[in-house]
Amino acid sequence: MAKETLFGSSSEDSAIWTEKYRPKNFEDIDGNEHIVSRVKAFVAARNMPHLLFAGPAGSGKTTLALIVAKKFFGMGWRENFLELNASDSRGIDVIRQEVKSFARTKAIGDVPFKIILLDECDALTKEAQQALRRTMEQFTTTCRFILSCNSSSKIIDPIQSRCAVFRFRMREKKDVEKAINDIAKKENFKIDTKAIDAIFKISRGDIRKVTNILQSSASITKSITEKIIHEVTNEVQPENTKQVLDLAITGNFLDARNLLLDEMLKQGLSGLDMIKAIQQEVWNLGIPEESKIQLIERCAEIEFRLVEGSDEFVQLEALLASFTGKGQKKLL
Ligand SMILES: Nc1ncnc2c1ncn2[C@@H]1O[C@H](COP(=O)(O)OP(=O)(O)O)[C@@H](O)[C@H]1O
Ligand SMILES: [Mg+2]
Repeated sequence: MAKETLFGSSSEDSAIWTEKYRPKNFEDIDGNEHIVSRVKAFVAARNMPHLLFAGPAGSGKTTLALIVAKKFFGMGWRENFLELNASDSRGIDVIRQEVKSFARTKAIGDVPFKIILLDECDALTKEAQQALRRTMEQFTTTCRFILSCNSSSKIIDPIQSRCAVFRFRMREKKDVEKAINDIAKKENFKIDTKAIDAIFKISRGDIRKVTNILQSSASITKSITEKIIHEVTNEVQPENTKQVLDLAITGNFLDARNLLLDEMLKQGLSGLDMIKAIQQEVWNLGIPEESKIQLIERCAEIEFRLVEGSDEFVQLEALLASFTGKGQKKLL
């Protein structure tokens, strides 16, 4: 059994790196500094409004909410903190019921209120949000709510106006790099800069994804390269995509098509995976700028058709056909 400490189970015992390396103090959080300092000030003042955390998955919303609760309540934090998921299929009535029974009793210890974290509030319908608003008002003296959502535009104005709204941003390259290097040091593995670049590109700054990719890669080898990253993430290897496109733009349509099919089947990639990879590689091709723009538009068109359910191979062939010959024009 994991040892119970102020911060839940002792981190050494956690097998999942996203939990093991979840920041435990305000100071450990990289990025979103302006948010962290304001929230920290609330805790220091022993008072805070309701909070609305908006931002993409993996931007650190839940992590900050947990730190707030732990810092506010200390050892007894679990008694005074309730975490609910708004996308809970049992519906808003169950959520309100749980909030009610939690909020009915006074906070334990010398603290002014309890805290309720309601995650993924975008999942609530407008009607459910109205009901939530009433519940927030009803228990405002005994409870503070921390609501989280991906986009604040999905949250009704009456809730937004009752909360201090914070918009979380994805981690920048330097923060992702630092997080990777920190974990590499602690877990004793090496990782080269190309692999770090690949992780950043794939994760787009989502630290949860970054950490999961690292854990899977490190379970295979202690010396992580770009190739390993593409293997564990099942992403298309950029050099293979480039080869497909180079064949196409120089007029070798059949070779390009065969190589593309081969890659897809071998790696178990979907048509949409391929389109994304192709879209990223277009910019690296040796063709005129206006051709690149045309091809990007074409990618968007084909992606739309795939989403609508068209045949993957037919659509990808059509896409490759638009690449064919683009490179030859440049030679004329
Ligand atoms: N500032 C940070 N620095 C390093 N890792 C972080 C940071 N914030 C979050 N993480 C890691 O990213 C994961 C996802 O964060 P989380 O707070 O759950 O995101 P969200 O709730 O916005 O989806 C956490 O498990 C943690 O390991
Ligand atoms: Mg979360």
